[in-house]
Amino acid sequence: MHGKINVPTPHISARIGDFAQTVIMPGDPQRAEFIAKTYLKDAVLVNNVRGINGYTGYYNGKRVSVMASGMGQPSIGIYSYELFNFYNVENIIRVGTCGSIDKDLHARDIIIAMGACTNGNYASQYRLPGTFSPIADFELTKKAVDECIKRGLKYKVGNILSSDTFYDDSASALEWAKMNVLGVEMESAALYCNAARAGKKALCICTVSDSFIYPEENTSAEERRSAFTKMMEVALEIA
Ligand code: HPA
Repeated sequence: MHGKINVPTPHISARIGDFAQTVIMPGDPQRAEFIAKTYLKDAVLVNNVRGINGYTGYYNGKRVSVMASGMGQPSIGIYSYELFNFYNVENIIRVGTCGSIDKDLHARDIIIAMGACTNGNYASQYRLPGTFSPIADFELTKKAVDECIKRGLKYKVGNILSSDTFYDDSASALEWAKMNVLGVEMESAALYCNAARAGKKALCICTVSDSFIYPEENTSAEERRSAFTKMMEVALEIA
């Protein structure tokens, strides 16, 4: 725990009230800009520290914010902590990409991450006498499922792995598939921990950008930036 932190925080230059109750959080700052410019009316830039664009605007008349998390648990750990604890944000919905390790899932399918396993150490800070299970908020999860059904999208709900390594010397990600873990990304476990600790709500919706099982399906960086609009629309609808 840090001592007293004033707003603006070390990483966010916005003022109290600049963020809506719900923040949509992609990893990539350019994807945050894409969401704001494509979907939000009257979007205002509320943060640009380190190029982590944050915008607040209106989606179908509903005030909503979008801000990037950067990559990895330490990065989303900082931004989600500050939004939950210093900016009175109630809900963070991560919209990310993941590598699928599930044979039923293909590129562009959606994973709704009910739980997030990790090979990282983020939860050790809580000094619990056991292993914490980072989970999504049930209401947000249910709304995301309902929205996917309504839109006829291919989705699966389940566990994901928040890995601390993208390039992993042991190439061990696939081992998690035997525990029915569906995909690998790098942020959700820390986000879910911060939400639990702050008494707030979080969910991660991922689009499969690559598959460990079907490597020929991998999407390009350009597609990652702009093509995952279905997931973004689901997140905005449930915000
Ligand atoms: N590993 C970790 N994070 C990812 C991956 C991956 O294979 N694909 C998209 N995000």
